[in-house]
Amino acid sequence: MNLTLRIWRQNGPEDPGAMHEYEVRGVSEESSFLEMLDILNEELFERGEEPIAFDSDCREGICGQCGLVINGIAHGPEVTTTCQLHMRHFNDGDTITIEPWRANGFPVIRDLVVNRSAFDRIIQAGGYISVNTGAAPDAHATPIPKQDADKAFEAAACIGCGACVAACPNASAMLFTSAKVTHLNLLPQGKPENLKRVNAMLNQMDAEGFGACTNIGECAAVCPKQIPLDVISTLNRQLGKALFKGL
Ligand code: SF4
Ligand code: FES
Repeated sequence: MNLTLRIWRQNGPEDPGAMHEYEVRGVSEESSFLEMLDILNEELFERGEEPIAFDSDCREGICGQCGLVINGIAHGPEVTTTCQLHMRHFNDGDTITIEPWRANGFPVIRDLVVNRSAFDRIIQAGGYISVNTGAAPDAHATPIPKQDADKAFEAAACIGCGACVAACPNASAMLFTSAKVTHLNLLPQGKPENLKRVNAMLNQMDAEGFGACTNIGECAAVCPKQIPLDVISTLNRQLGKALFKGL
């Protein structure tokens, strides 16, 4: 495949940035999207030009590092991570637009790389257990209802990629925050401070500059781990309890 790529280039956080156009030739439809960018970067390197900065680590859909907005959609035309997106979903001669996540909470560091440490701070605000839990218990020592275990596991599948924020017109981090709250609060180990945790994580989300949730649902539509919208309802129910108790 021969492709035209329109890619956002930004030479640092203060640079205004702009779209640049590149031609890339001979891309196999079996290549992943990131391998296609590797091919372009090798060409740029050989020409003595600055390669395009983009993030990736596992390239297996696990780490959540590789988010890009492709043709206006977070992670592109398939509901998966960018590293798991393959070029067979594009056609020879296509023009593909590639941009970084756009959100106040995710400032651009360079080109397609954004700073997602706001997510770490949201987790730090409430995503831990403050009591001493001692040594690791035997697997079945703490009985957990199957329904709760399944729900917690489903929420824990969130990889913190940030696609939910990038897709949301309000740039809200509500799906991510709710997934983290849900998986911690449903398990017995997370119950003692569950309401405090909801408040702390939501306050941090606001402080990081993410927007409010207005139930649009774009977040769940692009989530590569299929985190369902009902984790937001779970969080809202717990927030109601926290407010009722004056926490
Ligand atoms: S909720 Fe989904 S889209 Fe949002 S950070 Fe987690 S895995 Fe990514
Ligand atoms: S590089 Fe790890 S999820 Fe894509």
